[in-house]
Amino acid sequence: MSTATSTTYNYGVVRQFAIMTVIWGIVGMLVGVVIAAQLAFPELNLGLPWTSFGRLRPLHTNAVIFAFGGCALFATSYYAVQRTCQTRLAFGKLATFTFWGWQLVILLAALTLPLGITTSKEYAELEWPIDILIAVVWVSYAVVFFGTVMQRKTKHIYVGNWFFGGFILTVALLHIVNNIELPVSLTKSYSVYAGATDAMIQWWYGHNAVGFFLTAGFLGMMYYFVPKQAGRPVYSYRLSIVHFWALIAVYIWAGPHHLHYTALPDWAQSLGMVMSLILLAPSWGGMINGMMTLSGAWHKLRTDPILRFLVVSLAFYGMSTFEGPMMAIKTVNALSHYTDWTIGHVHAGALGWVAMVSMGALYHLIPKVFGREQMYSVGLINTHFWMATIGTVLYIASMWVNGIAQGLMWRAVNTDGTLTYSFVEALEASHPGFVVRMIGGAIFFTGMLVMAYNTYRTVRAANPAEYEADARIPEVAH
Ligand code: HEM
Ligand code: HEM
Repeated sequence: MSTATSTTYNYGVVRQFAIMTVIWGIVGMLVGVVIAAQLAFPELNLGLPWTSFGRLRPLHTNAVIFAFGGCALFATSYYAVQRTCQTRLAFGKLATFTFWGWQLVILLAALTLPLGITTSKEYAELEWPIDILIAVVWVSYAVVFFGTVMQRKTKHIYVGNWFFGGFILTVALLHIVNNIELPVSLTKSYSVYAGATDAMIQWWYGHNAVGFFLTAGFLGMMYYFVPKQAGRPVYSYRLSIVHFWALIAVYIWAGPHHLHYTALPDWAQSLGMVMSLILLAPSWGGMINGMMTLSGAWHKLRTDPILRFLVVSLAFYGMSTFEGPMMAIKTVNALSHYTDWTIGHVHAGALGWVAMVSMGALYHLIPKVFGREQMYSVGLINTHFWMATIGTVLYIASMWVNGIAQGLMWRAVNTDGTLTYSFVEALEASHPGFVVRMIGGAIFFTGMLVMAYNTYRTVRAANPAEYEADARIPEVAH
């Protein structure tokens, strides 16, 4: 390694992932708006297999979770781990490989899913050759991340890195175990698990994809960017450690709440329910820790839209982690399962928490890695903030109304035991909610376009001398 590189942070790969986060965010959310429109106006399926809801839906979930969310996690973890360990990213070439490898995974997903090539396991739809590529990229990510932590110049490992590290290790385990499959051709494989075991492994994976990909990783982001943007230390470092271990210990047991009233043994369902209720405590511990970090800095919210993004994301995190344990109670789940309530819960977490914390983190990070004092326009960040907030509220409120209406209509029976409503009547009652969700989604998506424009103007004015100065690694006294 030359002296020039060993004395600076590796911002190159952070820049690449940051830009792709914005691009994949636009693509994934656009597909989200399209499928929302299809649910309201089925003619938009166009009568073609490739553009049908059934094929575009997994394209949406893969694009927003793994392309948008994944790139955001790579960008922020690579940025934060270097700065908190005060050392350059280990294995630079391998880090570059993780960027190109991950983009290839995304492209292959975008090609195969509309073609109908799928394992049919939710959030693990990609076929076996792509699964192998994901495993290789992910193990490389782990090597780069932990390699950097190991060569740190600081004495202790900052808590944000514990969350990022927990997320990286667990996702590797989940991906590999859930995708053990027998290939029968290049594009088709069958899971080695069968029946209720297959369902349990799938939802152990599915729920922990939520717990580790969509939660622990983004908490790592929160623990770095909230204190940075607020200019305050984490409210309680002790609480953050308790938060980490409690979350890791409990999340892994909660998966069976996706399989209430199924062929899964009853005791496993009840265990999943109880663990989900316990999960409220560490989740709120983390949320409160993030919020309280603003003690003494609340006034900054008046002028700083980036901080608004971060704080509102924590509020939505708190909300969805209250709602989740409630929905895990079997009697509540009997009403909510299969309805739009679940979809509303998902997007309270996905839009309100995951997307908004990523946006806040990126607005902090982009100017730094492109050598600008701040984003091109702070006013546009504020516009984006309001669009994202209004879009999320419209989305989740319409889904609550729909979900509860559907649940109640499906279970309503006449005195003679016949159903009061046909399925189509419940569908008709849902139509206004579908339209409101589409409008909310379109507003959220348009906010993403505002972000893209702001990013483009910031990147166009990039100043290499400035970002190289920012990337200089400080001398650490041992
Ligand atoms: C413009 C923004 C978005 C819109 C309009 C949108 C719309 C939709 C729609 C219409 C569905 C299908 C619902 C159904 O089957 O009834 C869906 C599913 C889903 N979306 Fe989004 N979405 C958006 C953003 C996001 C983001 C940012 C994420 C994640 C970070 C996300 C994660 C998901 C997931 C996980 C599902 C599957 C839910 C389930 O199976 O229960 N979405 N989305
Ligand atoms: C304490 C935390 C949480 C608990 C206990 C919890 C619990 C639940 C429950 C009970 C369901 C419904 C299962 C069903 O009826 O099929 C569900 C669905 C879901 N939740 Fe959560 N949730 C939590 C937090 C979150 C967060 C923060 C996110 C997103 C960032 C999220 C994303 C999802 C997704 C994507 C699904 C839909 C899965 C599917 O059916 O495809 N959850 N959650």
